[in-house]
Amino acid sequence: MNDELKALVRTIPDFPKPGIQFRDITTLMLDRVGLARTVDALAATVDGKVDLVAAVEARGFAIGGALAVKLGAGLLLIRKDGKLPGATIAEDYALEYGTDRLTMHVDACAPGARVLIVDDLLATGGTALAAARLVRRAGADLVGARFIVDLPELGGAKALRDAGIPAESLFNFE
Ligand code: PRP
Ligand code: ADE
Repeated sequence: MNDELKALVRTIPDFPKPGIQFRDITTLMLDRVGLARTVDALAATVDGKVDLVAAVEARGFAIGGALAVKLGAGLLLIRKDGKLPGATIAEDYALEYGTDRLTMHVDACAPGARVLIVDDLLATGGTALAAARLVRRAGADLVGARFIVDLPELGGAKALRDAGIPAESLFNFE
């Protein structure tokens, strides 16, 4: 079934830089059956209680809200720098094609809250590891991370394993 979801992801060569094969989930999101199945498939990978789904801006937001509702959890928005109005904590990270900074409201989660990170895609793992550092700095219990797409050649799944973060993705692009 995940192969049907994979077939709905469009690949755009040389975006945003020459040499990058951009795995575009907007086509999967446009498909009402594909979108619903994506949320169901992600929810099916989760065992145990989740208090908060921590979704990473921007593409993580596309599924984070629906996944949170499905899991009976709240939604924690992890945003790029300068977007959150309250007091924040921040973490810098490197991307496949640049650098960036993620922020989270300092009071967004209670110590011990069970938090699941969600994003559309895992590449180097830099984004998810920065999100994990934020969640852990807040004193939360990081229960894992979930992605629609994994790009295994970029090493993100191994980086998350090495950091002790249980991670699953619905399908890979080799
Ligand atoms: C993409 C993607 C992940 C991240 C994965 O986001 O949505 O968040 O890259 O890469 P990594 O595993 O190497 O960190 P991007 O930063 O392009 O931002 P966007 O969601 O705002 O498009
Ligand atoms: N984020 C990081 N690398 C990416 C890729 N190749 N396609 C889509 N999103 C990405």
